[in-house]
Amino acid sequence: MFWNDLPSKFTILAPMEGVTDVVFRQVIARAGRPDVFFTEFTNVSSFASEKGRHDALERLDTAKNESPIVAQIWGKNPEHFKETAAALGNLGFSGLDINMGCPDKHVNKAGGGAAMIKTPELAVECIKQAKSATKLPVSVKTRLGFTYLNEYKTWLPLLLEQNLAALTIHLRTRKEMSKVPAHYEIIPEIVKLRNSLAPETKLIINGDIKDKAQIEKLAEKYPEVDGFMIGRGVFENPYCFTNHDPDREELKKLFLYHLDLFDIRAKELESRGSRYPDEPLKHFFKIYFSGFNGSKEFRNELMKCKSTNELRKIVQKSTSILNQ
Ligand SMILES: Cc1cc2nc3c(=O)[nH]c(=O)nc-3n(C[C@H](O)[C@H](O)[C@H](O)COP(=O)(O)O)c2cc1C
Repeated sequence: MFWNDLPSKFTILAPMEGVTDVVFRQVIARAGRPDVFFTEFTNVSSFASEKGRHDALERLDTAKNESPIVAQIWGKNPEHFKETAAALGNLGFSGLDINMGCPDKHVNKAGGGAAMIKTPELAVECIKQAKSATKLPVSVKTRLGFTYLNEYKTWLPLLLEQNLAALTIHLRTRKEMSKVPAHYEIIPEIVKLRNSLAPETKLIINGDIKDKAQIEKLAEKYPEVDGFMIGRGVFENPYCFTNHDPDREELKKLFLYHLDLFDIRAKELESRGSRYPDEPLKHFFKIYFSGFNGSKEFRNELMKCKSTNELRKIVQKSTSILNQ
């Protein structure tokens, strides 16, 4: 099982819908890869339906250099968890993760993501069905509670009793969204729960972790935590899994690489009768071009572009502003 073969204090790129697709994961792999990748989450009922299967499979595309990579799924139908888990065993993934933390209204209304915290029996059944259908290690990513912080005192033990390969905890409740600082103060209590109920389950913490330097500090303070997951930190520095502080030239090159991968992916999808869902990379510009005089105006210029070639032209002719 790959979770046991990872380095001590391993790192993970958090799953982020609309961000961490196969293209962006390769960009992060080039900048400096984490020890583990996760896919964006995929709905099990879409996967289990004839109509939704094609799109679901596309969301689960991976590149050769990503291993180990964990497929993340969500839903509320135990049978569909079973079906999806069975199929994912043959798609080259190293593990399977169930999302029980997403705060999105639509996802929660459909009974999935963080809503699972309110239906613990169903949550357990979904885990059981997934586990029954695959040899892949099954893990869960969740929050501390739905409404109240102290819900973790019953919710986490219940999860830990399911003999999970790993448990990732985003250290906030669903109600808190991302509006308050992550509750690091609860880590010692969570470590105790893990140690007493499921010493074999890898414990991963998530929330407000920005980069490797912060991971090193957290690892020193909480030595029994096994892994550390970074999400939005990649927006501030795509090299966050290294201790590298990139200069503007490196960021520009990484952006051009991102554009090339975007084109390859768009062509690949087109040949399958699909299309890349976004105008080229608008929500990524800030990662590559910020923090210098005129960066906002520069991004506004990029926003007007309709194609990757237009973007390339602007970036390549802007050496003076990018090298100031
Ligand atoms: C744009 C965006 C999309 C997200 N999509 C997912 C997802 O598909 N699955 C999931 O488990 N969490 C998802 N999350 C939550 C992150 O994985 C992570 O738990 C959260 O951002 C807190 O970590 P951070 O402070 O390091 O960003 C998403 C977060 C963001 C910002």
